[in-house]
This record gives sequence, structure tokens and C-alpha cells, in this order.
Amino acid sequence: MSENTTQIACQDLPPGTVLRIEVGGEHVAVANVDGEYFAVSDTCTHARISLTDGGLAGRQIICPWHGAMFDLKTGRPTCGPAIDPLRCYNVRVEGQSLIIEPAAD
Ligand code: FES
Repeated sequence: MSENTTQIACQDLPPGTVLRIEVGGEHVAVANVDGEYFAVSDTCTHARISLTDGGLAGRQIICPWHGAMFDLKTGRPTCGPAIDPLRCYNVRVEGQSLIIEPAAD
């Protein structure tokens, strides 16, 4: 496994939860939306605060500071004040583990 890849146990991420992890030295928010897994940069593009504590609304993650929302699949903001998208990461299931790595640009 490369240093840009992080592995976590599926049981550590029940449906409806978000977990902050590190991938390649970057903070990443990994989410379980009804059994579908997503991972995006944990840092809001508006004022660089952690998104993990903001919670989920369907397939969106909510910034706890000013309320921006980002689509977890595309990283794009769906509600301001953030304008720029989040970096997306690939998540794959291997047995009882999730493997998270940067998506190709
Ligand atoms: S810091 Fe996230 S919306 Fe302002």
C-alpha cells in the first residue's frame, strides 16, 4: 500500500457518519451515505475549516461555520458561500476495509 493510500475498517464508518482521516498527509472527510462511501478534502474552500463536524444532508456535507454544502460525489459546492470545489478521493471496499486514495486530477 502506498503512502498516499489509507485503510480503515468499514465498521468504523456506520451509515450516516463522517470520519476525518489522513491520506498522504492531507485531512480527508470520508462518509457513509446509506452504504455508499465517499471521500473529499476535509477543508472547506471558503475559510479552511474542518468539514467533518458539520454533518451530512443526503449526499452533501455541510460546513459547520457558514453553512456551505458540497456534493460528496463531485466535490462541487451546492450552496454558498463556498465557490471552489473540494478535492475528491477514491474509496473502494476490500473485504471489511475501505481503501481511500487521491482521485486522478
Ligand atoms: S468556512 Fe465553510 S462556509 Fe465558510
